[in-house]
Amino acid sequence: MSNAPDRNIGLELVRVTEAAALAAAPWMGRNRKMEADKAAVDAMRLMLNTIEMDGIIVIGEGEKDKAPMLFNGERLGKYNAGWDVPKCDLAVDPIDGTRPLALGLPNSIAVVALAERGSMFFPGPIVYMDKLAVGPEAADVIDLDAPVADNLSAIAKAKGKAVTELVVVVLDRPRHEQLIAEIRATGARLKLITDGDVAPSIAACLPDTNIDVLMGAGGAPEAVISASALKCLHGEIQARLYPRDEKEKKLAEEMGYDTKRVLTCDDLVKSDNVFFAATGITDGELMRGVHYAATRATTESLAMRSSSGTMRRIIATHRPEKLQQILSDQKERLAEREKDA
Ligand code: FBP
Repeated sequence: MSNAPDRNIGLELVRVTEAAALAAAPWMGRNRKMEADKAAVDAMRLMLNTIEMDGIIVIGEGEKDKAPMLFNGERLGKYNAGWDVPKCDLAVDPIDGTRPLALGLPNSIAVVALAERGSMFFPGPIVYMDKLAVGPEAADVIDLDAPVADNLSAIAKAKGKAVTELVVVVLDRPRHEQLIAEIRATGARLKLITDGDVAPSIAACLPDTNIDVLMGAGGAPEAVISASALKCLHGEIQARLYPRDEKEKKLAEEMGYDTKRVLTCDDLVKSDNVFFAATGITDGELMRGVHYAATRATTESLAMRSSSGTMRRIIATHRPEKLQQILSDQKERLAEREKDA
């Protein structure tokens, strides 16, 4: 975004993820995924539209969530602000971990990433990617094509640990039976998670999280989102499209995708000008979720920027009723803008 090198849009993105988290939090444990998702999507979309930018959603709410808004290709932001606003790609996940939120379980977060226009990888119809994510110490030693044992031994060496001291995070899915067996055979410690592989990818980059590696196939959109955060933190994620069956593989190949190619962080997000924000919805290892007191709600967020390498941890208190008012005013403004367009 050559016309705005000093503006940290990441700080504006925190307002977006805070709004989504505050809208989603009341749905904790109520087992109403669709309602929770709609609340978070609405709030996120309204807040994104307050930012002076010309944003296009590259990674949006896909088929999986059946969401009518924040879809791929949607144009967002105050793009007609009257000055040369930055043109950008957006990757959004108003709730990464809809199920944990619905069940009141940990690690549900709201996330947004932003980078220069044309720089984010679009995974097309492919739902999953195979992933290997690590923090800065091990960024140069991983190889998704190498055997699991070789990767874990290289990561342990780079981190000055024994393999048996590593903690590897894997989504607990039948498709990972073989991977889990291979990890266990190395003696590494394993943490099986029910959902949400963005948070552990970030956690692998931070000290004191007791997470060293994320491995296995998870959402393809989440790979691009994680890559955006890992670029800011100098970690690395390698990912490869993971078609679920022959039909999906054929479709991907017909569309020109190389299903064998290992994509790096730089392939997933080409830009070196990346911004990322996340806010906890339910309590997690990376961030606290939304907590309520008599008149206020507290959020914890992360804001990152790749060009400076700065990561901020932001604790904010909010008056939910005032935020509600701001969102409803913004909704009216937006409706008028859409009517005039
Ligand atoms: P949601 O955005 O639907 O909550 O997805 C959560 C998630 O667990 C991702 O973090 C992960 O990459 C993907 O779903 C795994 O997909 P699946 O549950 O189909 O294995």
